[in-house]
Amino acid sequence: MSMRRRRLPLLLATLWAAAVTTPAAAAAPSDPAPVLPPTLVVSAHRGGSGYAPENTMTAYRNAVRIGADQLETDTQLTSDGKLVLIHDASLDRTTDCTGNVQDLTLVQVQACDAGYWWTPGQGTTVVDVTPPHPLRATGIHVPEARELFDYVASLGGPDTHSISIEIKDIPGEANFDPTGMHTAAVLVPLIKASGLKARTTIVQSFYPPALTYVRSLDPDIKTQLLTVGAASPYLAYGVVGGEDIVSPDSTSPDLTTQFVTAAHTVGKQVIPYTPDTRAALTSTGRKGVDGEITNFPACLLELEGRAHPVQLLPAASLAAGSGPVPTCASEAPPTTAAMSEIGWPAALLPVGLIGGLAYVGRRRPATRAAR
Ligand code: G3P
Repeated sequence: MSMRRRRLPLLLATLWAAAVTTPAAAAAPSDPAPVLPPTLVVSAHRGGSGYAPENTMTAYRNAVRIGADQLETDTQLTSDGKLVLIHDASLDRTTDCTGNVQDLTLVQVQACDAGYWWTPGQGTTVVDVTPPHPLRATGIHVPEARELFDYVASLGGPDTHSISIEIKDIPGEANFDPTGMHTAAVLVPLIKASGLKARTTIVQSFYPPALTYVRSLDPDIKTQLLTVGAASPYLAYGVVGGEDIVSPDSTSPDLTTQFVTAAHTVGKQVIPYTPDTRAALTSTGRKGVDGEITNFPACLLELEGRAHPVQLLPAASLAAGSGPVPTCASEAPPTTAAMSEIGWPAALLPVGLIGGLAYVGRRRPATRAAR
């Protein structure tokens, strides 16, 4: 029996103890002026897509200007093996081009206008293509991953910005890679060459084998497991896989103070994605998480009592005549996040953890066994 297998009962007992001994969280007060700890990591989702076109250098420079701690991004491989920063497998949603990134060369991808569909103040996860689109034809392109690394490196030694870069390996998508290796094989050498590792370059994915492969190539790179739906079963994946951070959807019904305590007990940070309103960022932050990934990083900075510039848009948008944008996304109707402190956790956390550990024990990826 491997060391990791022998540790499973101990881990399970630890997680269970954390789940059952943590007192139930009080309901979040409605208002006014909620305040979160200033230590919460402010992660700019796709560079902070409420203020600039997602996954572009315009967004990343803007996120640094605003004062975000972390630059969150996504990667896809072009047909000639170059790593570019784009969320979708296709160019359709975010550029004026159509087609899949994997079918086009870097030159072809970079000929597309990545500022074409962006509207000021509209987070990328909101589906609305209404005008204005002030950054059309202003030269904004899909960057190579190395452009982001070079930019952060250029900020100098004392700079503390981190990069959290997602390997987009999603079962069912056109370019799904069941080995989880293709993107990592390009990304990890890039990270090594960038010299940024000491400043924390994190690799994230929804697909555990991709993270396993990253760690096999370089055990020093931090990894972050993204999850959808109930968070608890995937905490088990994070434990067994050795990930540093777990990132549930902020609306997961079992993302609670108990879940966060259990994750901390086993040494995992919790950084959920992507609360965008003042209410959602506040309720998520009050669960004791270590950071939040948001399209509206200035909103989280405010909730933490940290300063940010009054003007949230990059200079290019101002030149194009954009008006002021809201700090936070407009408040949405109550979602499942509002239900998450009501009753779910005590039952779901241990059940989910047991189920998750059992599943991981049976279905461990081959690459993991080789480590
Ligand atoms: O960083 C987490 C977040 O990016 C996951 O969601 O859809 O933006 O990849 P998605």
